[in-house]
Amino acid sequence: MHTISTHPLIRHRLVELRNPATPPKRFRILVRELSTFLGYEALRELPTRAVPAPSPFAVAEGREIAATVVLVPILRAGLGMLDALSGLLPDASVGVLGMQRNEKTAEPEPYYAKIPVPAGEESLAILLDPMLATGGSACDAIATLKKLGYKRILFLCLISCPEGLSRLEKEHPDVSVWAAAEDDRLNEVKYIVPGIGDAGDRLFGTL
Ligand code: PRP
Ligand code: URA
Repeated sequence: MHTISTHPLIRHRLVELRNPATPPKRFRILVRELSTFLGYEALRELPTRAVPAPSPFAVAEGREIAATVVLVPILRAGLGMLDALSGLLPDASVGVLGMQRNEKTAEPEPYYAKIPVPAGEESLAILLDPMLATGGSACDAIATLKKLGYKRILFLCLISCPEGLSRLEKEHPDVSVWAAAEDDRLNEVKYIVPGIGDAGDRLFGTL
């Protein structure tokens, strides 16, 4: 299942994010803010449990998050989203997955993985990557998480497109996907159109 945000705060920032004149220092801020807003929307799915909440005059009925969460940014570009999600979930641990899309074939080539094993059945892995293009990197990353034993996986991205969304839904229908935008299509070199160009290069100033 996928959800594309229609939130005005997200739509407004996407205009500046897309602009090729936006410099890396501003691009990084926008990615972080968009990730905070998208994360806030997506995390409404988190399970909670009842806890007593002592307050000055009585004990209120409180609720706390009932999942152990692991944030998994896909290197490099996913790193741009990590700070925002760590802010929303300060108790979450972090694993990283290095994946480089082959420039000729557009196939993902994993080069590094350091991800904790799930703490239990209810462990939730949240994959972070601003781009869902062919869906190859996301599907490969999800397969890695499932092999490690994760049963609950959420994928957060900023820019998606029909090709990537349908591939994800076909290969991993159990994964919930949240995106800030669904763009039109992929071009001949598998970049998203209109998109934002190369997210990693724009984040890290390596254009
Ligand atoms: C980009 C992006 C995704 C992938 C998406 O990474 O951050 O990981 O491409 O494309 P896909 O859906 O077709 O797999 P890239 O390989 O450019 O690496 P980088 O983040 O290190 O720049
Ligand atoms: N990776 C990017 O950074 N941008 C795209 O449009 C597709 C893959």
